[in-house]
Amino acid sequence: MRIGIIGFGNMGSAIVDGLIEKKLFKKKEILVFDINKEKIKNLPFNIKKNNREVVEDSDVVIIAVKPKDAENVLEEIKDNLTPEKILISIMAGIKIKKIEKIIDKKVPLIRIMPNLNVKVKAGIIIWCSNKYGKKYENIVKKIFSPIGILFKMSENKFDTITAISGSGPGFLFYIAEEFKKICIEKGISKKIADDLVTYLFYGTGKMLLDTKIEIEKLKEMVSSPGGTTLAGLSIFEKMGFGRILREVIEAAENRSRELSES
Ligand SMILES: NC(=O)c1ccc[n+]([C@@H]2O[C@H](COP(=O)([O-])OP(=O)(O)OC[C@H]3O[C@@H](n4cnc5c(N)ncnc54)[C@H](OP(=O)(O)O)[C@@H]3O)[C@@H](O)[C@H]2O)c1
Repeated sequence: MRIGIIGFGNMGSAIVDGLIEKKLFKKKEILVFDINKEKIKNLPFNIKKNNREVVEDSDVVIIAVKPKDAENVLEEIKDNLTPEKILISIMAGIKIKKIEKIIDKKVPLIRIMPNLNVKVKAGIIIWCSNKYGKKYENIVKKIFSPIGILFKMSENKFDTITAISGSGPGFLFYIAEEFKKICIEKGISKKIADDLVTYLFYGTGKMLLDTKIEIEKLKEMVSSPGGTTLAGLSIFEKMGFGRILREVIEAAENRSRELSES
């Protein structure tokens, strides 16, 4: 199987890193084109002259350009698509219906929504497909499982998931930043504050992942009666942190809906 990547930016290169690390494809089976020649200079892959060539010679094609370039690229490659080639789009907010309208062909089509954390191979990747793409679940898993956990989801959940997993790292970075500011205000050096907060998030994530104990139970474990955690958590409750977070998620969800409808 040969895999083509159109757009070798953050996401395109992260996907290829995963494939190479897991030795799923040989370098010559990875076909790449990016309009920005700097991005593909000296790459050890099969570099193509244009997007049409990528599609022509690939069995699976991943479009990893920005959403604003979607129409250009789809118009350019549509004549080279066939029902035997699988088209995968990772472009945020570009719906399957829109892609189908542009390419105007019955081809297997997969839509993927990865998050930033695929860069460290711990991403969340949600996906859906058109009716021709349904049978290719194994291929989707093969390509994307090296960089994260996959969830198949109907397309109408994509805006919600975009708010949670797509914007989620940004929201957690915000909380991390606030923790860091507090450390510094309380006289802890910037360097120690950085490491402290990084390990706070890393260790807490690892507890969730490694212990497999339910989230609610873990919270209970650190909240002994009369203790410091409970004293702090009572402020979250009093100030309505749950309500704030709901509003945060809803704002991101609404924005995602606006962008995908524009
Ligand atoms: N980054 C994330 O965390 C994230 C998360 C979820 C989804 N996504 C989606 O992933 C896609 C890629 O994002 P990214 O962050 O990887 O973007 P990126 O780093 O800007 O990479 C896109 C690459 O495609 C190139 N390109 C533009 N037009 C092209 C064309 N006609 N043919 C071939 N290459 C072309 C760009 O070149 P120029 O720089 O010269 O334009 C750039 O090198 C986006 O659609 C985004 O919505 C990203």
